[in-house]
Amino acid sequence: MTSRVTRTQVVIVGAGPAGLLLGQLLQRASIDAIVLERRSAGYVLGRIRAGVLEQGTVQVLEHAGVAERLHAEGIRHDGVEIGFRGRRHRIALHALAGRSVTVYGQTEITRDLMEARAASGAPSVYEAEDVALHDITSGAPRVTYVHEGELHEISCDFVAGCDGYHGVCRSSIPADKLATYERVYPFGWLGVLADVPPPWNELIYANSERGFALASLRSATRVRCYVQCPLEDRVEQWSDARFWDEFRRRMGEGIADAVVNAPSIEKSIAPLRSFVVEPLRYGPLFLAGDAAHIVPPTGAKGLNLAVSDVFYLHEALRDYYRGRSERALDDYSVRCLRRIWRAERFSWWMTRQLHQFPGDAFARKMQETELEYLFESEAAQKSMAENYVGLPLERAT
Ligand code: FAD
Ligand code: PHB
Repeated sequence: MTSRVTRTQVVIVGAGPAGLLLGQLLQRASIDAIVLERRSAGYVLGRIRAGVLEQGTVQVLEHAGVAERLHAEGIRHDGVEIGFRGRRHRIALHALAGRSVTVYGQTEITRDLMEARAASGAPSVYEAEDVALHDITSGAPRVTYVHEGELHEISCDFVAGCDGYHGVCRSSIPADKLATYERVYPFGWLGVLADVPPPWNELIYANSERGFALASLRSATRVRCYVQCPLEDRVEQWSDARFWDEFRRRMGEGIADAVVNAPSIEKSIAPLRSFVVEPLRYGPLFLAGDAAHIVPPTGAKGLNLAVSDVFYLHEALRDYYRGRSERALDDYSVRCLRRIWRAERFSWWMTRQLHQFPGDAFARKMQETELEYLFESEAAQKSMAENYVGLPLERAT
């Protein structure tokens, strides 16, 4: 196979929200980057994932110049509800923490970023196969990939590993250079997207005897709902009717009566995991987003963390290319990890409080006690609100 050789400053592996946003931020800082994505653009846009954005995330998207549609179509939420024992308790996010969250789908952010990248003419390669990193610590790193049967090689200064949990970048780092922290939960989330007006105004996280359920939305005409399910379950076992029946039972009165059996336009099962590697840097390779850490979706933190990682990374690269210093590159991992561990703790806490852990009667008692405390104590609600709306991003000095 012949090899075509090019050069750029930063190779970004992965065109999920982390990779595309980094590309956009670098583009605006006049730093050259090439995005390499294993899948087609259509496939990336078809993945239904996050829906809740922290205010800090919205600000970064504004800074990146891709918030126009988000401002027009995103829905501000000032509270969330927790369902327990047939009652719903509101956590007044804005009143308690002074900030709100915005409901705007990850798919929409991805679309906005793809369009901005295409309009700027910055290079992206979709369906890039066999992406491989070479000579990482040699001072002259290279990335190769195959596209339409042809082998390509890019020499670069830095590689941004934005290729998600199953990507190639993290596994290119020698295992003895990374510490790994992990917790796997004994259940998954079955999610359904359906075009029907949501009969709820704010998200409802329900802890039911039958398992967790979440009522979310994407717009005034589209709902996104989840139920906790066994890890072994397959989507084919869940007809729409079975899903809605289970969802209604877990949501309880008030909501159950209003939920209709709307046909699903997407249905998928996601396992739940907490995962962090340290550090996020190996020479010129920087990990960002799900490539470096996973949170269970209960706290709505994964996408928000991916955004704060790449915000810090773009600042560090900008400082480097402006000839200021390498200090921000050196600090990148520590700076990200402070936020990451806070979000890991909160997501783990939310997951523990809201799901059924089969066979663990002690855990159930702790859950009941913790939730009763939450509903009675403004201090506990404030702590939850502060974490849910997200910690402010540290600004560069
Ligand atoms: P990804 O989105 O995984 O993107 C990585 C990209 O890299 C992919 O496009 C992949 O195809 C590509 N890639 C992989 N390997 C290679 C390779 N070898 N070569 C080239 N490209 C490669 N987060 C929130 O903040 N709020 C929420 O409400 C929320 N809800 C969620 C609900 C569910 C059901 C799930 C599953 C997740 C949710 N998340 C949420 C988490 C959020 O979706 C992720 O954290 C986010 O997608 C991370 O973005 P990323 O760009 O780091 O990784
Ligand atoms: C979603 O709308 O997909 C969503 C919302 C909140 C979460 C997780 C997912 O905690």
